Amino acid sequence: MNNFSLSCIGCNSIFSITELIYECPKCGDLLEVLIDYRRIKAKLSKSGWRKRPISVWKYFELLPYQNASNIITLNEGGTGLHKCRKLGAFLGLDNLYVKNEGENPTGSFKDRGMTVGVTRAFESGAQSVICASTGNTSASLSAYSAKAGMRRIVLIPSGKIAYGKLAQAIVYGAQIVQVQGNFDESLKIVLDICKRNRQVYLLNSINPFRIEGQKTLAFEICDQLGRVPDYMVMPVGNAGNISAAWKGYSEFLNLGIISDRPKMIGVQAQGASPIFQAVKNSRKSIEPIKKPETIATAIRIGTPISWKKALRAIYESNGTALAIEDKEILEAQSLLARLEGLFVEPASASPIAALKKLVRDGVIKKKEIVVCIATGNGLKDPEIVGRMYEKPIDLAPEAEIVEKFLGLSEAVSPRVI
Ligand code: F0G
Repeated sequence: MNNFSLSCIGCNSIFSITELIYECPKCGDLLEVLIDYRRIKAKLSKSGWRKRPISVWKYFELLPYQNASNIITLNEGGTGLHKCRKLGAFLGLDNLYVKNEGENPTGSFKDRGMTVGVTRAFESGAQSVICASTGNTSASLSAYSAKAGMRRIVLIPSGKIAYGKLAQAIVYGAQIVQVQGNFDESLKIVLDICKRNRQVYLLNSINPFRIEGQKTLAFEICDQLGRVPDYMVMPVGNAGNISAAWKGYSEFLNLGIISDRPKMIGVQAQGASPIFQAVKNSRKSIEPIKKPETIATAIRIGTPISWKKALRAIYESNGTALAIEDKEILEAQSLLARLEGLFVEPASASPIAALKKLVRDGVIKKKEIVVCIATGNGLKDPEIVGRMYEKPIDLAPEAEIVEKFLGLSEAVSPRVI
């Protein structure tokens, strides 16, 4: 941990990496982990890291932890970067890739941050961990803290998270509190609790150790593509992940591993789009949305806690932000599944919906390399399928009836193998 410190993004104060703080004790702004580039560069130059298989811990020299034997892992990262030829052709893109974060152990990108965050909690001696969540964070926190043997507490907006995610938190043995309010209100309660009870360790993405794990998303993309994409398109909710990806690209740039960075495009749902509104109006801060609403419950957030870092990523990269209607999100979910065999949850389909507009408006050109982040697995939210699609037909158990329904009644020659 000698190569790391905590730094305030507002007043630039520096703190020890082992200090138990989630925001700057001087000015209250967000913290981030600073790495000592010179020492890490020296370490990497003789480590042979490039030959290791991709995973979060492939990049352990760039991650803050004390002792390898303490690492709490479920084998996260190493997710597929799928070249999407059919979807690309449909959208007018030659080089479209989807990084399928649903392949992580609990089915979302949160596992990248949680392996580092829970390892930190464990190394700091915490007995209990807590988060507020729209679902995926709670599932991931519950799994990793179960593995670590810690008490796990999650606050969720009552009736507003997908059942697959709730089921995960239940089975992993979390204490679950449904808050009669939205995510933003739940997070405020969690922050208050952690201020008053220092023995409870906070694992929302305001915690800079979460961001450290999540930055490996960018490292993996560079490794898998063998270059930097032109565009990185990702959903934005509480705004941790876009901040983390930008930090990852920036670290690789500063270490001389890559020579430029992609343009970052943040995608929100129309009814929960404070980052989009800020970017549209070229503002340096957000105006909270009091009553966020969208079918993509994962990103139903009106006051993203990491908004400052997210705006920095978008502006510094010359990127942009978009807001997408729920209907467009669901169309994109279907397209990705039917053309590429990738079933993602609604929030994760929003970048595909955004691409349609970006290509139409000439922002992204046919030959440019685009990576969309599919943040979570579609199986987490089966209710949406039940609501949006026709129910399968029910037939009597007779071959002729089934054949007739399928239009297979005419004799068909057996397939030659
Ligand atoms: N996609 C999915 C599937 C998510 O679950 C989230 C966030 C996001 C995108 C947005 O990421 O917050 O880093 O901007 N889910 C959090 C949760 C808020 O509690 O599970 P972000």
